[in-house]
Amino acid sequence: MVDCLLARVSVAIFSLPKLPTFIPVSVPSVVKYYVSMHSLGILLSGRGSNFVAIADSVDAGRIPDARISVVISNRADAPGIVIARERGLNALVIPSKGKPREEHDREVVTALNEHQVDLVCLAGYMRLLSPWFVRQFPQKIVNIHPSLLPAFPGLEAQEQAFAYGVKVSGCTVHFVDEELDHGAIIVQKAVPVLDGDSERTLAARILEQEHIAYSEAIKIVLEGKFAVVGRRLVAKT
Ligand code: GRF
Repeated sequence: MVDCLLARVSVAIFSLPKLPTFIPVSVPSVVKYYVSMHSLGILLSGRGSNFVAIADSVDAGRIPDARISVVISNRADAPGIVIARERGLNALVIPSKGKPREEHDREVVTALNEHQVDLVCLAGYMRLLSPWFVRQFPQKIVNIHPSLLPAFPGLEAQEQAFAYGVKVSGCTVHFVDEELDHGAIIVQKAVPVLDGDSERTLAARILEQEHIAYSEAIKIVLEGKFAVVGRRLVAKT
């Protein structure tokens, strides 16, 4: 009886299909490094100076372990998308004109996922994101705004600040939530308003600070050594 059982078991074992031989392959360290890098997706609609500042920071190592996986514009004529192409980056135009917001957002999110983006950077992206879009990347979407939020949200923030007569303005990099220019603040830079300023000179000095602030903020987010407590981003100890 036992013999019979053993015979059956050995027949079963020997009739198993031949398993493929396992050949250990060593993954080159450069491939491992590339796979472990953070993948940025840039959304823009216009001139793209913040995108260029981010790209320069990535190239210079000021934003370590990161690459720009895709740059997406909702406008075919955005100078920023031309620059992205010239730099050899994946550059996509996904037109938004005439499309319902969420339909367009779904196309953009599909492209971001195809490029395995893990941080979305809005760089002069002149579209409000739908709540659906925001939910796809919780605390993984950042934006830059040219004022010290919560002052002067919305369009033409520099002009609003100038007209109001503030003595200090600046810029804010913040997480994107479902409200306009509202999520938790990551970095702010103050810019004094000088007596001799015009709207144009003030905006230019704010822009210089934007280019510094955005890279600093992306580095902070990618390092992940923070917690958001209420609205406050605080360093983890
Ligand atoms: C910047 O002022 C940014 O703060 C705002 O849009 C402008 C984009 O400029 N959100 P650019 O296209 O990055 O040069």
